Amino acid sequence: MYKDIEAGVAARVPNSKKKYSAIAALSLAFLLSIAKLWFIWYFLGAPSKISKLSVGNSILDDSACPVAPALRPESYVKDNSTLVKIVEDQTFRNESVAKLLGAVHYRTVSSDSRPDPKTNPEFYAPFLKFHEYLQKTYPLAHKYLDLEHPGYEFNLLYTWRGSDPSLKPLVLMAHQDVVPVNPDTLGEWEHEPFEGYYDGHFLYGRGVSDCKSLLSSLFQAIELLIKDGFEPTRTVVLSLGFDEEVGGKYGAATLSDFLVSRYGRHGAYAIVDEGGAAIEQIDDTLFALPAVGEKGSLESYIELFTPGGHSSVPPDHTNIGIISELVSNIEKAPFSPDITESNPFFKYLQCMAVHATEDSAVPKNEILRLLVDESAKERVLKWVDSKRNLRYLAKTTQAVDIIDGGIKANALPEHTKLVVNHRVNVGSSCAVTGEKILNDIKSVASKHNLGLRFNNEEILPKTENGYFNYTTGDMLEPAPVSPTTGGNWEVFSGTVKHLFEDIAYPGQLKNPVVVSPSITTGNTDTAHYWDLTKHIYRYRLATFNSVLDGHAHGVNEQMPVESHMYLVAFNYEYIRNCDAAKD
Ligand SMILES: *[C@@H]1O[C@H](CO)[C@@H](O)[C@H](O)[C@H]1NC(C)=O
Ligand SMILES: *[C@@H]1O[C@H](CO)[C@@H](O)[C@H](O)[C@H]1NC(C)=O
Ligand SMILES: *[C@@H]1O[C@H](CO)[C@@H](O)[C@H](O)[C@H]1NC(C)=O
Ligand SMILES: [Zn+2]
Repeated sequence: MYKDIEAGVAARVPNSKKKYSAIAALSLAFLLSIAKLWFIWYFLGAPSKISKLSVGNSILDDSACPVAPALRPESYVKDNSTLVKIVEDQTFRNESVAKLLGAVHYRTVSSDSRPDPKTNPEFYAPFLKFHEYLQKTYPLAHKYLDLEHPGYEFNLLYTWRGSDPSLKPLVLMAHQDVVPVNPDTLGEWEHEPFEGYYDGHFLYGRGVSDCKSLLSSLFQAIELLIKDGFEPTRTVVLSLGFDEEVGGKYGAATLSDFLVSRYGRHGAYAIVDEGGAAIEQIDDTLFALPAVGEKGSLESYIELFTPGGHSSVPPDHTNIGIISELVSNIEKAPFSPDITESNPFFKYLQCMAVHATEDSAVPKNEILRLLVDESAKERVLKWVDSKRNLRYLAKTTQAVDIIDGGIKANALPEHTKLVVNHRVNVGSSCAVTGEKILNDIKSVASKHNLGLRFNNEEILPKTENGYFNYTTGDMLEPAPVSPTTGGNWEVFSGTVKHLFEDIAYPGQLKNPVVVSPSITTGNTDTAHYWDLTKHIYRYRLATFNSVLDGHAHGVNEQMPVESHMYLVAFNYEYIRNCDAAKD
């Protein structure tokens, strides 16, 4: 069995398509009864017919998927009462929930039309109210941490100064903004989105999952640490932007520049920010999936100019006909999936192969051979492409999102416009992506004897039939991949493992948790932070899928209360583990 939950993709999967298998249901019952997991299982269909390739035992050992041991802070080993309080104490839970739901109240909305915060500060007024709320709600944090507002008063930068300035600071991130609520969908919300609601199991409201739970959990963990007498050796920084949902131009970009100028290039120990899918269950094993890579993104703007005229004497192909042919050709030739060794998804596949069970639907043998055997690689890619939670991790995507043209029923269109959105595969580049689209346009241009300009350069001269004008918009290359060997990774992944094995599901898991490198298909504020450290982990620890089951960005955004408590616990333990790390 393979459990299909993933970010990015999942939002498009209607609930009605979820199918269940008996095995999944049994496993679900098992997990639910003791662990209160909110897993949705999918039935894979008939197990793929895997020819039993003989694989040398040497590559079937764990070296293909090294998993660092769980890392328990000394304080936890001595006395776990704070952790017990976080996950079990109902009074603490209710207080924690009330603080989170209070944050949901503030309409810190980012819309595509956002104005410049310098010239239109009134648009951002809810953020200032939100800041007051944080100050009132987390007095200890505000007493012990320094607060600054780099660039814009809406940015929040907290510094908890450590006693050893030679240690690189740990940077923890979350964003203050949320996506808007479409007024047309208000009737579909079971609870008013900006009220915030708790039914004893789930939390509801806009931003409850993305990203106010993460933001609140940082303050809650820090207040507990202060109460427990913890004094950091390593500086801890909270960097909280206010426009992540629209690209982080004013928030993350400014905060990152500020931090690089204060601490230097590669001056941070590690960054943790929100991510994609938090967990997947494959067979009997729980995979935690921090994203150590992030796909790139690129927009293609394509215009076609042709002579107009009366539609009583039209050419065989109007401007709209030709641009339609282009759309059709673009879609007929999708980007080929590819898995390179440098893509963290390759490591994720290796982990599946090593840890999936004998009779698993995961094509283990092919996965373990894919670097040395082209036909094995082809079969893996085919399998990956058939899994909607995996296919986007291995290829560049193209989505024609806007088409615009024609103004009158009896006039030939002179101008049409297309916008194509791409998410660029790790291992590929924006240039390669633009090249593919350029070639698609070139062949249509040649066929119809049209000119072609690309980024203001002439590729084919204009003709009397007209010309294409292709411009590539904002480019974001795939993120550099964070190292998944060495101390920083071991501390991070070891803490994640500790959280699941000791705190979320103590004594309840059949197999050890596998913390596997993965990637996000969407972008996060960390896209602006590449200079601050190589060690960027996009991971909002959760026991559910925040996009699929959390309705992130959608109607009835929600999350199980346990996930919020585990986030508090994770921050508490991770700050302590990083503090004890020597480098
Ligand atoms: C705390 O420690 C006790 C005793 O070792 C153990 O039974 C319990 O599971 C621990 N709880 C947590 C949340 O770590
Ligand atoms: C916590 O909140 C829930 C839901 O509102 C309520 O049923 C429960 O009694 C509260 N527990 C405590 C200890 O306050
Ligand atoms: C092509 O499009 C770009 C971007 O919109 C624009 O700056 C440029 O003037 C256009 N060139 C022509 C010849 O249409
Ligand atoms: Zn987010």
